[in-house]
Amino acid sequence: MADKKFYITTPIYYPSDKLHIGHAYCTVATDAIARFKRLTGHDTFFLTGTDEHGQKIEKIATEKGVTPQQYVDNIVVGIKDLWKLLDISYDKFIRTTDEEHVATVQKIFKQLYDQGDIYKGEYEGWYCTPCESFWTETQLVDGKCPDCGRPVEKAKDESYFLKLSKYADRLIEYIEAHDEFIQPPSRKNEMLNNFLRPGLQDLCVSRTSFKWGIPVTFDDKHVVYVWLDALTNYITALGYDSDNTTLYDKYWPADVHIVGKEIIRFHTIIWPIILMALGLELPKQVFGHGWLVFDGDKMSKSKGNVVDPVMLIDRYGADAIRYFLLREITFGSDGQFSNEALVNRINSDLANDFGNLLSRTVAMIEKYFGGIVQENSAYDEEKDAEFIAMVKALPATVEADMNALQINTALEHIWAVISRANKYIDENAPWVLAKDEANNARLGTVLYNLAEVLRYAAVILKPFLTHVSDKVFAQLGIEDEALMTWDSLFTYGGLKAGTKVQKGEAIFPRIDVKKELDELEAIKQANMAAAAAKAKEAEEAAKKAEEPVEDVPLKAEITIDDVDKIDLRVGEIIEAKKAEKSKKLLIFKVKCGATERQIVSGIAKHFTPEEMVGKKVIFVANLKPATLAGNLSEGMILAAEDKDGNLAMLTIDKDLPAGSTVS
Ligand code: MSP
Repeated sequence: MADKKFYITTPIYYPSDKLHIGHAYCTVATDAIARFKRLTGHDTFFLTGTDEHGQKIEKIATEKGVTPQQYVDNIVVGIKDLWKLLDISYDKFIRTTDEEHVATVQKIFKQLYDQGDIYKGEYEGWYCTPCESFWTETQLVDGKCPDCGRPVEKAKDESYFLKLSKYADRLIEYIEAHDEFIQPPSRKNEMLNNFLRPGLQDLCVSRTSFKWGIPVTFDDKHVVYVWLDALTNYITALGYDSDNTTLYDKYWPADVHIVGKEIIRFHTIIWPIILMALGLELPKQVFGHGWLVFDGDKMSKSKGNVVDPVMLIDRYGADAIRYFLLREITFGSDGQFSNEALVNRINSDLANDFGNLLSRTVAMIEKYFGGIVQENSAYDEEKDAEFIAMVKALPATVEADMNALQINTALEHIWAVISRANKYIDENAPWVLAKDEANNARLGTVLYNLAEVLRYAAVILKPFLTHVSDKVFAQLGIEDEALMTWDSLFTYGGLKAGTKVQKGEAIFPRIDVKKELDELEAIKQANMAAAAAKAKEAEEAAKKAEEPVEDVPLKAEITIDDVDKIDLRVGEIIEAKKAEKSKKLLIFKVKCGATERQIVSGIAKHFTPEEMVGKKVIFVANLKPATLAGNLSEGMILAAEDKDGNLAMLTIDKDLPAGSTVS
């Protein structure tokens, strides 16, 4: 059974608190393929995860007053929740902050250095001093820092480089000899002509300008930079070069890495070269899918036009969303997301074609045969042959589509059979047959065929729509699990006469298109208005921050001895709640060294308890305890305040342990 194993991956996601429907697309597609492989008997391993290091994360966490680790821990919970809602059947969720990953990346880095494939050099890029960030030419926006919009200057930094150039010829040869390696085929020429043949520059694989990364073991100024950390997840997740390499030995090389089109380059150039340098086999295929665009525009958090998958799942259910994504977009090409397309797809394909086929079939079996499935005994060559041949051929057709990763074509083929079944009802007009008892056997056979094709559809649809198949089996009265397997489709006629069908609720309720589109438009407008308001607020706050502060008279002069008396400490807020008897007060549990204490602070109008938890703040640790509105307070948390009463907490700009002194 060795050839039956199947290893498939999605990219590991950058931690984001707002994954949009485009992000969901990639993972839903990979899930459908993984489920299909499992259904058809492959020993499948499906990997997904998060790509958690980097300067951007370090910066956001600092702005939020939490550690990068706390920040990513929180976001990962949300990402896993979304995958749960979408019924993503991953076998492992790797985080690049996992200890095992970190350790293996460090070993790989050292090995490549020792064998001369990584060397120390100088990196030249565009530097934004206020953001302390290096940018490449292409990352700049109008020649300025993409983060803050301020001017950048050319600067140099010490850095380690991976010798891509050394392996370029070998890689070109490999790609030319393996047509299946880069898919769809158009991407292969793009990689060869635009990147490989013109010549590869060595890749910068370390940075010194930030700390939130995997430390280079033999040079502690450096952390591993991006792709060497991210791409290696595909093998570290399997335990490569660890104490337990069972999964690696079994599943590597990957059968397919599914990736978005903008990262094909990294997966088909950098990744194979890393593997060649390590002396490992290359993945069998990298498949680049297209992008989901929204009203012709890229989704962007700042524009507020991101479509929230959780909202859509709430309204229509995970099956409808999965169906839309998989059916509407040709896998490998860009696709358009629009509310109209979504609602129409749900109505026409799911509610009408599929939903009606089931409800009509079950209703007729109930009406004409008291709900009992009849023998399939009155075959009519002229009326049945072509239809049944089509049903019998469906599993092989869908399997061929899925082997070619043509997910939308697979669904088209399934729906062609569903539509054909609806036509079969009209052609055979059971209501006419029912008028004469002499037609009973034929009527029973017609309804049998309809129920059997519904069973086929329910089995074949399992990888694509993960909930509806069970509902279909329940309405058809199928309890025998053997009739729900792929193998059961090898013989037409598996459904047993005598089975009792059971009418249930509509599997996909019809949507009132006009009402629904109005509501979705209202949600979109509200989101865009909120994003615009937030942008304006941020702009005003930035402007204000630049304005000179009106001089507040200074307090009376003190000496260094007075300052020395104040014991300022870093404290980590581990719990926060509102005070019962006061609208102004928040009560915190603050960690300081090995001890914890309660501090009450009058900032409830400015901060919620939730946003305070995890922050590292500065507080006066030796203030005499006092009781505020009946609550003991053992210290004072420091905040800055402008003339309009806006507050900002004092935090630390890089992570230090709670209890650290401040001077
Ligand atoms: N962290 C890197 C991948 C490292 S893999 C070793 C990354 N992360 S990402 O969060 O930005 O993107 C994750 C996946 O989501 C990518 O495959 C990307 O193409 C996909 N998508 C993000 N927006 C998308 C659309 N609008 N449409 C389709 N897929 C999209 O890249």
